[in-house]
Amino acid sequence: MTAEITPTTGSHSAILSLGVYRPERVVTNEEVCKTIDSTDEWIRTRSGIRSRRFAGPGETSVTMATSAGRKAIAASGLDTEQIDCIIMATSSHYNQTPQAATLVADALGLPGPGSFDLSAGCAGFCHGLAVAADLVRAGSSRHVLVIGVDHMSVGLDMTDRTSAFIFGDGAGAVVVGPSDTPKIGPVVWGSDGGQANAIRQEPSWMDIVNSGDYERPSLRMEGQSVFRWAAFTIGKVAKDALDASGVGVEDLDAFVPHQANQRINELIVRGLKLPETVPVADDIIETANTSAASVPLAMEKMLREGQAPAGGLALLVGFGAGLSYAGQVVRLPEAPVES
Ligand SMILES: CC(C)(COP(=O)(O)OP(=O)(O)OC[C@H]1O[C@@H](n2cnc3c(N)ncnc32)[C@H](O)[C@@H]1OP(=O)(O)O)[C@@H](O)C(=O)NCCC(=O)NCCS
Repeated sequence: MTAEITPTTGSHSAILSLGVYRPERVVTNEEVCKTIDSTDEWIRTRSGIRSRRFAGPGETSVTMATSAGRKAIAASGLDTEQIDCIIMATSSHYNQTPQAATLVADALGLPGPGSFDLSAGCAGFCHGLAVAADLVRAGSSRHVLVIGVDHMSVGLDMTDRTSAFIFGDGAGAVVVGPSDTPKIGPVVWGSDGGQANAIRQEPSWMDIVNSGDYERPSLRMEGQSVFRWAAFTIGKVAKDALDASGVGVEDLDAFVPHQANQRINELIVRGLKLPETVPVADDIIETANTSAASVPLAMEKMLREGQAPAGGLALLVGFGAGLSYAGQVVRLPEAPVES
């Protein structure tokens, strides 16, 4: 007779707290237009972006994530010993080995948590949140630190007018832990690898090595393809995420879509028939697209400015490279947000 594995069960899960890091340096559209043939007006009307923040000298995905993570843990009121897993959603850590999550865990003084990176572009944070919620539900972890961070400016070609104006840098972190009632709904996620080329690093590391031309790679994007895919697909994803949680648009206190393009978000809002009373995140105006950091940063702005209530019901949807998406309904954290 072989031994049976002892079954485990956890509890419902919740976002307990939120902390963010926004770099000091504000980069205006005028500054971006010094290296591309464009105008402030074109960028504002086509994307909604007025400015973004770029990391300063010495700042990296690891330092930004550490700052956001420290604030999220402080806001949760937990001790560092209580964080037993850390998930870093990022596509801009400079080394494939070691993973960024162990470096951040060490910098935060976490005593040996499970730690791994997760690469799903701008949908990374919502993927990480889904994994963390399930770890807590399954009883595999009790408190998980999920950090969405990207240092986009380091991989931008600032002479490429199809992408240079879109991205910014930042980090957002949440602590996910147990709850008496469900406060993170089921994830709705998916991908379309047939369109993988629409957002890509170019050249690949192997192509660089083979060419002997050691220039750093850049992000390249087929903007129109991404726009069409997002406008067509993400409205349905948002609806499916609401249905999966049994929540109607009229129940929402906030809609927090990925901050890729304000026009995309307006189309999603229209498709969802979102009541005008439901506030929609607009962090893109001053933050641009910070990839994996975009959703938690946008949440933080809504809570900080009182657009959304602590503990309110929010629909989150991340989408981007892959092309991939993930979305879920959550209760916003009740702990004071650490900005
Ligand atoms: C990038 C994006 C803002 C471009 O907007 P658009 O309305 O699709 O613009 P188009 O690519 O159709 O180009 C329209 C015109 O503007 C020009 N143009 C492109 N970039 C420009 C720029 N930065 N400044 C001025 N003109 C520009 C084009 O050359 C084109 O000119 P033409 O009509 O004379 O041929 C938009 O496609 C977008 O946001 N896509 C999604 C990107 C995204 O979200 N990426 C991240 C996902 S996570």
